[in-house]
Amino acid sequence: MTNVIYMTHPLIKHKITKLRDVNTGTLEFRKLVEEIAMLMGYEALSDLNTTDIEINTPIEKTVQPILGGKKPAVVPILRAGLGMVGGILALVPTAKIGHIGMRRDENTHKPTAYYCNLPDAIEERLIIVVDPMLATGGSLKDAVTEIKKRGGRNIKCMCIIAAPEGVKTFTEAHPDVTLYVGSLDRCLNDDAYICPGLGDAGDRIFGTKA
Ligand code: PRP
Ligand code: URA
Repeated sequence: MTNVIYMTHPLIKHKITKLRDVNTGTLEFRKLVEEIAMLMGYEALSDLNTTDIEINTPIEKTVQPILGGKKPAVVPILRAGLGMVGGILALVPTAKIGHIGMRRDENTHKPTAYYCNLPDAIEERLIIVVDPMLATGGSLKDAVTEIKKRGGRNIKCMCIIAAPEGVKTFTEAHPDVTLYVGSLDRCLNDDAYICPGLGDAGDRIFGTKA
């Protein structure tokens, strides 16, 4: 059964409200996406493996935990997911980075995968797939299918804003994957944009205009 974890922290709520605002410019938008990704990442990484090592404090010898096992991999869905990578790296600077390119057709709203490059030994890593928007769910669903085909097994996904339609599609397709959602919005409009949403995340991060 898929786990969907909805964020309740007031800092995340506050920052998502700022993100939605049409008057928030590119610079602030990028900063907010990164900060929200970091706060959500703190939750998503709460079960990272640790291993015990012996160290000396100024007082005595002691055995204490540090991160263990293979480094996690963060996999942004291009383009907009790129904006969230820095937030995860702020927590785990040594994380590996993969990339997966999904493009959503403006008319059919169906995604096409155009690029996939994942770190080696992907089957041994915790994989955090990041994309700010989960609308119809097609892009994330297909991205995770692609990662599984290449051996990914321990996968978590983080989306800042999700529509109920996207959550349903994704959870039905990947019941074994935990999904972290910053805000569950009302619905999709006729163009499959999330309402109230924040508009086009890629355009707002990269300063492009559809
Ligand atoms: C956006 C967003 C998701 C996708 C969500 O990307 O970043 O990847 O749409 O929509 P879905 O859930 O209906 O598939 P888009 O295709 O606009 O590409 P971009 O990131 O390059 O702007
Ligand atoms: N992609 C976006 O960037 N925004 C939406 O609302 C839906 C898909």
